[in-house]
Amino acid sequence: MKAVKNTVVAVLTASAVLVAAGYASAQSTTVKDGVYTVEQAAAGKELYERRCGACHNADFYRTAFTNRNNQPLQFMFEEILVNMPADTPGSLMDSEYEVVFAHILSLVGYPAGDTELSYANGSMADISVVPPSN
Ligand code: HEC
Repeated sequence: MKAVKNTVVAVLTASAVLVAAGYASAQSTTVKDGVYTVEQAAAGKELYERRCGACHNADFYRTAFTNRNNQPLQFMFEEILVNMPADTPGSLMDSEYEVVFAHILSLVGYPAGDTELSYANGSMADISVVPPSN
């Protein structure tokens, strides 16, 4: 009887851990939590259309975000920072990449919020990518 009781305790402990883990991940910031402002997305629109729009559309970005599910947002940002625009890599200022990226987040349908998207303050390392809703 003691063995059965221990098993029950072990199962209950394991599910408590799983519940706690689920709670922890629900607490972390994702790209759906309003990680850029409406003003930033608007500021990036013209630059985006001139420097990026010819080669990519919203569906392209949806696929890119889906492929990067669970990664820190910073990985994708740095990929763009280093390699885009493909014809003139690195030709924008960091602050321009920030507003262009904010515009892309809005194109894909992630909600805007009160917090500015910033590369300089390191916050993108703590924002996880989740696939866009469509
Ligand atoms: C001359 C065409 C061209 C231009 C202009 C261009 N790109 Fe790209 N981009 C590419 C190619 C080619 C790839 C890599 C192949 C692919 O994934 O289809 C790519 C890949 C990407 C990816 C996928 C990155 C990943 O791994 O998740 C993103 C995001 C992206 N570009 C954003 C941008 C942004 C933002 C701009 C403007 C600042 C831009 N691109 C301008 C051609 C271009």
